[in-house]
Amino acid sequence: MDQELFAAVDAFVGETIVSEDEGLRGAVEAAEAAGLPSIQVSPPQGKLLQLLVRLVGARTILEFGTLGGYSAILMARALPEGGRLISLEANPDYAEVARRSIDAAGVGEKVEIRVGPALEALPVLEEEGAGPFDLVFIDADKVNTPNYFAWALERTRRGGLIVADNVVRDGSLADATAADEATKAQRRLHETLAEEPRVAATTVQTVGVKGYDGFLVALVEPA
Ligand code: SAH
Ligand code: DHB
Ligand code: MG
Repeated sequence: MDQELFAAVDAFVGETIVSEDEGLRGAVEAAEAAGLPSIQVSPPQGKLLQLLVRLVGARTILEFGTLGGYSAILMARALPEGGRLISLEANPDYAEVARRSIDAAGVGEKVEIRVGPALEALPVLEEEGAGPFDLVFIDADKVNTPNYFAWALERTRRGGLIVADNVVRDGSLADATAADEATKAQRRLHETLAEEPRVAATTVQTVGVKGYDGFLVALVEPA
């Protein structure tokens, strides 16, 4: 099993059931031109995000980690008329690139980017009475994934979803002796969720054009 094969399968899926529209291709090109890291979700993963948005009938979404706006454009496209997505991004240069790509993709009215570390943005959202959210996508600094999850759990409606990207980390999730703080954070999140009756969750390992990783999907239990 190798990376080339994973990428070839993503390419085939891309040629058949998952298409990237002009807005998404534009976002990738703009991000490349501006020197952003190419760490956005893969097209098949992005399509899954879109399906999840539609399945929960999401109207309000919170995203941690905008990068160049790729996943934000995808999710915003899946929102109904009047739906809103707030995306948190620490890097002002990335946020600027994302803003332009999101506007160019025609979903500018649906997406608000908040610039600054997410942990600083959260108390502001709280003061504003933001939420409850129907879906939260956690994809920022990985050491803080458990903190973002804990915040999101209090502010996601019952029947809503919390999705966290990059929890498997080349399989290091299974390594109890891992020294990497990002990996330790994902292990801690799983251990916390084991004791959390308010969510039903699973982690799905993924391979693809972005390598070996995986995402966690948690349903906030309906009443
Ligand atoms: N969701 C994007 C990819 C996000 S990559 C997509 O799939 O298209 C992770 C992003 O999180 C990067 O842009 C990085 O700058 C941002 N980030 C890192 N630390 C952060 C923090 N503390 N608060 C908010 N964003 C952060
Ligand atoms: C990184 C971040 C991501 O969200 C991702 O999907 C892959 C890599 C990173 O920070 O390296
Ligand atoms: Mg990610």
